[in-house]
Amino acid sequence: MALQNRIAELLILLMTNKRQPQLLAEAKRHMPQGVAENYRYWGDDRTVFIEHAKGCTLTDCDSKTYVDFRLGYGPIILGYRDDRVDQAVVRQITERGTLSGFATELDAEVVKQVKALCPNVEKMRFANSGTEAVMGAVRTARGFTKRERVVIVEGGFHGLYDEMMWKSDIENWDPHGAQQPGVIPFGGGIPPRARSLVDFIVLNDFNMLERLFEEHHKELACILLEPIIGNAGSIAATQEWLQRLRELCTEHGTMLIIDEVKSGFRVAKGGAQQLYGIYADLSTYAKAMGNGYPVAGFGGRADVMDVVGAFRGGVVHGGTYTGNLVALSAAHETLRILTETDALQTIDRVGLQIQELLGRVFTAAGIEFMFAGPPAMFGIHFTPTVPSNYRDWRITNSDLYRDFAWKLIDYGVMLEPDSREPWFLCEAHQEVDLGWLEEVAHRAMTEACAMHR
Ligand SMILES: Cc1ncc(COP(=O)(O)O)c(C=O)c1O
Repeated sequence: MALQNRIAELLILLMTNKRQPQLLAEAKRHMPQGVAENYRYWGDDRTVFIEHAKGCTLTDCDSKTYVDFRLGYGPIILGYRDDRVDQAVVRQITERGTLSGFATELDAEVVKQVKALCPNVEKMRFANSGTEAVMGAVRTARGFTKRERVVIVEGGFHGLYDEMMWKSDIENWDPHGAQQPGVIPFGGGIPPRARSLVDFIVLNDFNMLERLFEEHHKELACILLEPIIGNAGSIAATQEWLQRLRELCTEHGTMLIIDEVKSGFRVAKGGAQQLYGIYADLSTYAKAMGNGYPVAGFGGRADVMDVVGAFRGGVVHGGTYTGNLVALSAAHETLRILTETDALQTIDRVGLQIQELLGRVFTAAGIEFMFAGPPAMFGIHFTPTVPSNYRDWRITNSDLYRDFAWKLIDYGVMLEPDSREPWFLCEAHQEVDLGWLEEVAHRAMTEACAMHR
């Protein structure tokens, strides 16, 4: 079989002078599926190799240029290779260094910037990824409450550690049947016992929420959610449901953790919490915080965060690369720009213009559609009513969306071909030729619809 695969690869190489098949064939000899992490493998023909990125565009290994609405799953908030951020990082590493394993003045400076934007944060610690930030927040919640159970919301994604690697089996669920969707691991290698302390609730379902607290309130360390589910097409909590969740958490001493890894410093300067005016006990941040540099953090109420520390019984938090100066200098400059300029207003304005033009395209094609979430991170759902939870997503026409997305990619618009991943905007999208975008969206939609007739 391996020999057959190799022969097939060689045939492709002979038949094309494109670099992509060659790079993938070579990479497969060194990495599983030829990629650095699972989600970059899009099939042998489709796996993308990027040569360079600038502003809101990507150029691949065969010199094809894309306007990018995927933005590396959301971290790019200003634009790729933003000079202001890059120069701040260069200054930092050439004048001071990358890391020493000791404290620097910059640590607290960045936290002060976060606190100025996010009133829910009184104290904070850093991390290197969203996964680590979530691990830190959940451990802190458990340390503070001395309870163990963690509740997450169906459709959310909170990183790659075993406890968070469970999901509703929505693809194999019958939305018209009486059964609830099953819960399955994201993949192999996740021990079933890692699920034993995790419960699921459905977004905007009041009964489920009340029942959860009635039955389990003494065991619940935390409820962890994205109020705007950045991993389920930006389907959003209602104000009333989130408010009730906040009240129940307060009443029962359960920590409300809002995962702002995608929404933080993006949907508003103060993230989703600013939009709702509802604040968590602990929050997690990453992505937009560093415009593509790997920085993350978790923080919240001072009395809760103060259980973290190197004292007897203190909650463990550490990491060789935590708070490294590449990450912190990028965060410092990105947060300065987001604080002092109207970058997020620009993003909202352009995001709305793009929604309007897409709306015209869908209407002309006779497709029922709904946008979900804010313009900086919006989902598109082919359905007559806005989905109110992940189960509703199942009855949207996501197959049509997938074909529309693939066509758009062919025309030079990069996005995730899965309607669960929102369209991400960055400041540099103000340079996009909206007339061109509408034209290619129109062509992509016409062709996708033809496939579904
Ligand atoms: C809401 C949310 N939390 C956590 C994570 C994990 O972040 P990372 O990929 O940086 O580990 C993600 C990743 O997309 C996310 O969207």
